[in-house]
Amino acid sequence: MNVPYFDLKAQYAELRSEICAAIDRVCQNVSFILGEEVTRFEESFANYCETKHCVALNSGTNALHLALLSACIGPGDEVITTANTFIATAEAISYTGATPVFTDIDPATANLDPALIEHATTNRTRAIIPVHLYGGTADLDTILGIAKATSWS
Ligand SMILES: Cc1ncc(COP(=O)(O)O)c(C=O)c1O
Repeated sequence: MNVPYFDLKAQYAELRSEICAAIDRVCQNVSFILGEEVTRFEESFANYCETKHCVALNSGTNALHLALLSACIGPGDEVITTANTFIATAEAISYTGATPVFTDIDPATANLDPALIEHATTNRTRAIIPVHLYGGTADLDTILGIAKATSWS
Protein backbone atom coordinates (compact mmCIF):
# COMPACT_ATOMS: atom_id res chain seq x y z
CA MET A 1 0.00 0.00 0.00
CA ASN A 2 1.34 3.42 -0.93
CA VAL A 3 0.49 5.98 1.75
CA PRO A 4 1.26 9.50 0.48
CA TYR A 5 3.48 11.56 2.75
CA PHE A 6 2.10 14.73 4.33
CA ASP A 7 1.91 17.34 1.55
CA LEU A 8 3.58 20.50 2.87
CA LYS A 9 3.51 22.10 -0.60
CA ALA A 10 -0.28 21.89 -0.77
CA GLN A 11 -0.54 23.37 2.71
CA TYR A 12 1.75 26.24 1.67
CA ALA A 13 -0.26 26.87 -1.50
CA GLU A 14 -3.37 27.38 0.61
CA LEU A 15 -1.66 29.87 2.95
CA ARG A 16 0.79 31.46 0.51
CA SER A 17 -0.80 34.91 0.16
CA GLU A 18 -1.28 35.20 3.93
CA ILE A 19 2.33 34.12 4.63
CA CYS A 20 3.81 36.44 1.96
CA ALA A 21 1.81 39.40 3.27
CA ALA A 22 3.00 38.74 6.83
CA ILE A 23 6.66 38.44 5.74
CA ASP A 24 6.28 41.67 3.75
CA ARG A 25 4.84 43.49 6.80
CA VAL A 26 7.79 42.36 8.96
CA CYS A 27 10.33 43.44 6.31
CA GLN A 28 8.58 46.76 5.69
CA ASN A 29 8.59 47.50 9.42
CA VAL A 30 12.22 46.28 9.75
CA SER A 31 11.00 44.55 12.90
CA PHE A 32 12.90 41.26 12.84
CA ILE A 33 13.09 40.52 16.56
CA LEU A 34 9.98 40.62 18.72
CA GLY A 35 7.87 43.64 17.69
CA GLU A 36 4.21 44.11 16.90
CA GLU A 37 3.79 41.02 14.72
CA VAL A 38 5.09 38.72 17.44
CA THR A 39 2.89 40.37 20.06
CA ARG A 40 -0.13 39.93 17.80
CA PHE A 41 0.76 36.29 17.22
CA GLU A 42 1.18 35.66 20.96
CA GLU A 43 -2.20 37.23 21.75
CA SER A 44 -3.92 35.39 18.95
CA PHE A 45 -2.37 32.01 19.83
CA ALA A 46 -3.15 32.42 23.54
CA ASN A 47 -6.72 33.18 22.55
CA TYR A 48 -6.84 30.10 20.29
CA CYS A 49 -5.52 27.93 23.14
CA GLU A 50 -7.97 29.56 25.58
CA THR A 51 -5.11 30.50 27.87
CA LYS A 52 -3.94 33.82 29.32
CA HIS A 53 -0.38 33.95 28.00
CA CYS A 54 1.77 32.85 25.09
CA VAL A 55 5.53 33.34 24.70
CA ALA A 56 6.70 32.95 21.12
CA LEU A 57 10.15 31.40 20.68
CA ASN A 58 12.46 30.77 17.76
CA SER A 59 12.18 26.98 17.77
CA GLY A 60 10.49 23.92 19.17
CA THR A 61 13.73 22.98 20.91
CA ASN A 62 13.80 26.28 22.81
CA ALA A 63 10.10 25.96 23.65
CA LEU A 64 10.79 22.58 25.29
CA HIS A 65 13.86 23.99 27.06
CA LEU A 66 11.96 27.01 28.42
CA ALA A 67 9.04 24.83 29.55
CA LEU A 68 11.47 22.68 31.54
CA LEU A 69 13.24 25.70 33.05
CA SER A 70 9.90 27.21 34.04
CA ALA A 71 9.14 23.95 35.86
CA CYS A 72 12.50 24.34 37.68
CA ILE A 73 13.91 21.15 36.13
CA GLY A 74 17.69 20.96 36.53
CA PRO A 75 20.72 18.85 37.44
CA GLY A 76 19.91 15.69 39.36
CA ASP A 77 16.34 15.55 38.04
CA GLU A 78 14.93 12.92 35.71
CA VAL A 79 12.37 13.53 32.98
CA ILE A 80 10.46 10.63 31.47
CA THR A 81 9.96 10.79 27.73
CA THR A 82 9.48 8.60 24.72
CA ALA A 83 12.35 7.09 22.75
CA ASN A 84 10.34 7.50 19.54
CA THR A 85 10.74 11.22 18.94
CA PHE A 86 13.00 13.83 17.39
CA ILE A 87 16.30 14.33 19.24
CA ALA A 88 15.17 17.80 20.45
CA THR A 89 13.05 16.23 23.20
CA ALA A 90 16.05 14.60 24.88
CA GLU A 91 18.30 17.55 24.02
CA ALA A 92 16.05 20.02 25.83
CA ILE A 93 16.07 17.82 28.93
CA SER A 94 19.88 17.49 28.76
CA TYR A 95 20.33 21.28 28.31
CA THR A 96 18.83 21.77 31.77
CA GLY A 97 21.30 19.30 33.28
CA ALA A 98 18.52 16.77 33.94
CA THR A 99 18.56 13.18 32.65
CA PRO A 100 16.14 11.93 30.00
CA VAL A 101 14.60 8.57 30.94
CA PHE A 102 13.24 6.80 27.88
CA THR A 103 10.19 4.60 27.89
CA ASP A 104 8.92 2.51 25.03
CA ILE A 105 5.91 3.30 22.87
CA ASP A 106 2.47 1.83 22.54
CA PRO A 107 2.70 0.03 19.18
CA ALA A 108 -0.89 0.99 18.44
CA THR A 109 -0.22 4.75 18.59
CA ALA A 110 3.60 5.04 18.26
CA ASN A 111 3.40 7.41 21.24
CA LEU A 112 4.55 7.05 24.85
CA ASP A 113 2.94 4.03 26.51
CA PRO A 114 1.41 5.21 29.80
CA ALA A 115 1.56 1.66 31.19
CA LEU A 116 5.38 1.89 31.23
CA ILE A 117 5.66 5.21 33.07
CA GLU A 118 5.45 3.70 36.53
CA HIS A 119 8.46 1.42 35.85
CA ALA A 120 10.51 4.44 34.75
CA THR A 121 9.63 6.57 37.78
CA THR A 122 12.20 7.08 40.54
CA ASN A 123 12.49 9.52 43.43
CA ARG A 124 14.31 11.85 41.00
CA THR A 125 11.46 12.01 38.46
CA ARG A 126 10.20 15.57 38.04
CA ALA A 127 8.30 15.59 34.76
CA ILE A 128 6.96 13.60 31.82
CA ILE A 129 7.24 14.84 28.23
CA PRO A 130 4.91 12.94 25.93
CA VAL A 131 5.22 13.66 22.21
CA HIS A 132 2.35 13.65 19.76
CA LEU A 133 3.73 12.08 16.60
CA TYR A 134 2.27 11.66 13.12
CA GLY A 135 -0.89 13.63 13.86
CA GLY A 136 -1.94 11.33 16.69
CA THR A 137 -1.98 12.44 20.31
CA ALA A 138 -0.41 10.55 23.19
CA ASP A 139 -2.86 9.30 25.82
CA LEU A 140 -2.82 12.58 27.77
CA ASP A 141 -5.73 11.76 30.09
CA THR A 142 -3.93 8.70 31.45
CA ILE A 143 -0.51 10.39 31.50
CA LEU A 144 -1.86 13.46 33.34
CA GLY A 145 -3.66 11.15 35.77
CA ILE A 146 -0.37 9.39 36.56
CA ALA A 147 1.48 12.73 36.96
CA LYS A 148 -1.21 14.19 39.22
CA ALA A 149 -1.13 11.11 41.44
CA THR A 150 2.57 11.60 42.17
CA SER A 151 4.20 13.71 44.84
CA TRP A 152 6.45 15.50 42.33
CA SER A 153 3.76 17.05 40.13
C1 LIG B 1 8.78 16.07 18.03
C2 LIG B 1 9.67 17.26 17.84
N1 LIG B 1 10.00 18.02 18.91
C3 LIG B 1 10.82 19.10 18.77
C4 LIG B 1 11.32 19.47 17.54
C5 LIG B 1 12.26 20.64 17.45
O1 LIG B 1 11.78 21.70 16.74
P1 LIG B 1 12.79 22.78 16.15
O2 LIG B 1 13.45 22.12 14.97
O3 LIG B 1 11.89 23.92 15.80
O4 LIG B 1 13.78 23.13 17.22
C6 LIG B 1 10.99 18.71 16.41
C7 LIG B 1 11.52 19.09 15.09
O5 LIG B 1 11.34 18.41 14.11
C8 LIG B 1 10.16 17.59 16.55
O6 LIG B 1 9.83 16.82 15.51
